[in-house]
Amino acid sequence: MIIIIEKAEDMSRLADKAHKKNLTVGFIPTMGALHKGHIKLVKASKKQCDFTIVSIFVNPTQFNDKNDLQKYPRTLDKDIEMLFEPSTDIVFVPQEEEIYPYGVDFENDLDLGGKDLPLEGKFRPGHFKGVAQVVKRLLEIVKPTHLFMGLKDFQQVAVVQHIIDRYEIPTKLVPVSTMREKSGLAMSSRNARLSEEGKEKAATIYKVLSSIVRNYNKRPVNYLLDKGFQKLKETGFETEYLSVVDGHTLQEISDLNDTDYAVVCVATWLEGVRLIDNMIIKQP
Ligand code: PAF
Repeated sequence: MIIIIEKAEDMSRLADKAHKKNLTVGFIPTMGALHKGHIKLVKASKKQCDFTIVSIFVNPTQFNDKNDLQKYPRTLDKDIEMLFEPSTDIVFVPQEEEIYPYGVDFENDLDLGGKDLPLEGKFRPGHFKGVAQVVKRLLEIVKPTHLFMGLKDFQQVAVVQHIIDRYEIPTKLVPVSTMREKSGLAMSSRNARLSEEGKEKAATIYKVLSSIVRNYNKRPVNYLLDKGFQKLKETGFETEYLSVVDGHTLQEISDLNDTDYAVVCVATWLEGVRLIDNMIIKQP
């Protein structure tokens, strides 16, 4: 049985009960339009925690493009249906006023340690301020012991880890590897907006990233990035960035000897849909 909760107050009260019983509480924040990638997070939580909570809230403050917010798929009934099978315990579906009781505020002065500035930061200014704001608020309400987040949003995971450390939030962040279609395309709520042909083409992103990972010690990074950029262009993508970054700092690097943690990240457009993905080249 799934319990559906709408009020922040009720959610906190239930979380307090779980803490009193010393239960571990796993939390998966989502914006709905669930897919198998989200279900993988739920399953990871079910495995590690006594209690699993999923939130569904399309957070307006993280959309720097109003069009994107309007077009964001909203599929609540189907989402809840998908959460039955992995036996989710609670689905938290707050209205805006539960999350932002003093009104939606697009400005905040959370310290993100600069983790928001590279990569996405150059193309979606303010996006991670909104993400940090809503995740911090959700963590205050849900008070989970564990937070499960997908590594497809590599920079988001880094930003959230920063706020957990910076604001001493007693939650352990558990990053979960990206779930992919058979073609290699990273699962994303946004894929629903691609045509069938678009989905096939979008698998090129995976091919490009894999090729960079395979060849990083054979060719200079910049050569591989140029080739990848070109391949995406030929396939019809408009690419915002294709960069190799230090996994600790998210700063671009061109010499992989400079770090023990390197990740190749991409953001690119196809059929009016913005797709992001990444692959770890080397990990400490
Ligand atoms: O990754 C997402 O779906 C969102 O950024 C999150 C973490 C649910 C915050 O709104």
